[in-house]
Amino acid sequence: MLPKRRRARVGSPGGPASSTQPRFPGVAIYLAEPRMGRSRRAFLTRLAVSKGFRVLDAYSSEVTHVVMEQTSAEEASCWQERRTVAASLRGCTHPELLDISWFTESMAAGQPVPVERRHRLEVAVPGKGLPSPVRMPPYACQRPTPLTQHNTSLSEALEVLAEAAAFKGSEGRFLSFRRAAAVLKALPSRVTALSQLQGLPHFGEHSCRVVQELLEHGVCEEVERVRLSERYQTMKLFTGIFGVGIKTADRWYQDGLRTLDSLQGQPQRLTQQQRAGLQHYRDLSAPVQRPEAETLQQVVAATAACVLPGATVTLAGGFRRGKLQGHDVDLLISHPQEGREARLLPSVMRHLEKQGLVLYHQHHLGCPEDATHRTRQSHTMDAFERSFCIFRLPQPPGAAVGGAQSPGPTGRALRVDLVVVPISQLPFALLGWTGSKHFQRELRRFSRKERGLWLNSHGLFDPKQKMRFHVASEEDIFRHLGLEYLPPEQRNA
Ligand code: UTP
Ligand code: MN
Repeated sequence: MLPKRRRARVGSPGGPASSTQPRFPGVAIYLAEPRMGRSRRAFLTRLAVSKGFRVLDAYSSEVTHVVMEQTSAEEASCWQERRTVAASLRGCTHPELLDISWFTESMAAGQPVPVERRHRLEVAVPGKGLPSPVRMPPYACQRPTPLTQHNTSLSEALEVLAEAAAFKGSEGRFLSFRRAAAVLKALPSRVTALSQLQGLPHFGEHSCRVVQELLEHGVCEEVERVRLSERYQTMKLFTGIFGVGIKTADRWYQDGLRTLDSLQGQPQRLTQQQRAGLQHYRDLSAPVQRPEAETLQQVVAATAACVLPGATVTLAGGFRRGKLQGHDVDLLISHPQEGREARLLPSVMRHLEKQGLVLYHQHHLGCPEDATHRTRQSHTMDAFERSFCIFRLPQPPGAAVGGAQSPGPTGRALRVDLVVVPISQLPFALLGWTGSKHFQRELRRFSRKERGLWLNSHGLFDPKQKMRFHVASEEDIFRHLGLEYLPPEQRNA
């Protein structure tokens, strides 16, 4: 299914233990005999072949997965060294050395399961990385990143530099700093010495220098200079307004604008969205608390179910990753019957307006024909029907000042995105909208570069086969990509 496997199918003359056509051409198993015994090896071979696996009799450069039983990592690596020499395979890429658990799980699944760390027979290389050796794969989607991490001040410093680079339009510098920050977030312990960065991916000279300064002096001069600069502070202020992106903020900055008051004085420069953003600036710049997000999800869910029985509303974004605060509330609306979700949003909005909850909203029609084209790029902007809103938080019963006479809810303003998703695309939309932004960017890059597949919030597309993958869950998407599943709480890259 994956391109790597397709490539392997072409011209693979190696002697499979049976002539049955292998179902997983990218996987060629070699069962290493020492601890296994001949008859068990023969049995396991028959089992694997009957399930469509390719099992090779001889160790060769074609082998992709070596499976061993009751073998230590040290033994396994000695064995591999000897075989590599014996088969004159020096310089070839080594196959995976795996414990029998990978094999039995694959047999049970009827397909090769993604290789996880616990399957690997790998020897720790002493003196590399942190005290206990840290295996840090290069893509953020290949490693868990929990919400609470051990290097907050270091990663925040690098993120300031990343942000400043983005404000200047330097995409390359932005990504370098952002990736280094993401590596720090994924480390299992606090960095206390520069040497601990050795061998970690994405740590260039500049990021290392920043960390070194922070470790030695507690502050990094460059980061402080950026933080205090007029440009950085103004760009932060302007991009913090609902509806203002980097380009607009930069134009205003170039035109000499510096404050919110100066913007208020030039209403002709502002879109309706930006005007609403400015009007509610104070409320919107205060973080949304988890209970507020949950209340809002319940209100919208009740309204949607009232408009169309069976309609579902899912809280995505940072809150789904376990965050306690956020800058907005991301809600996905769907219905178990494909097609029923269409045109649901205008009715939901009308009902919410009647309840006095809507301070501002801007409706965007979906463009289904756009969805395919967008798989081509790793666009964050998708083609779903959606509404960018500012809601007034409903007050809990009894809290309203005017009691029963109160004209409506009087709670504070909140930013909400409502996104309408057909059920067949829901796992992709849920994955995309759960974030983090960096995690999704990396996942899409991994799909494209490592698997030749295009991923976005609408689907997973194989451009060579011109085929879309059908999935029922986020787990299915990770499986198709050959990645270990990471639950939302581990996507805080
Ligand atoms: P957010 O910007 O809301 O981030 O986008 P967040 O993680 O929830 O952070 P806070 O807590 O609100 O500050 C959530 C996810 O939705 C995706 C983003 O890429 C991110 O992964 N997204 C956002 C889209 O896919 N399309 C959009 O138009 C906007
Ligand atoms: Mn959000």
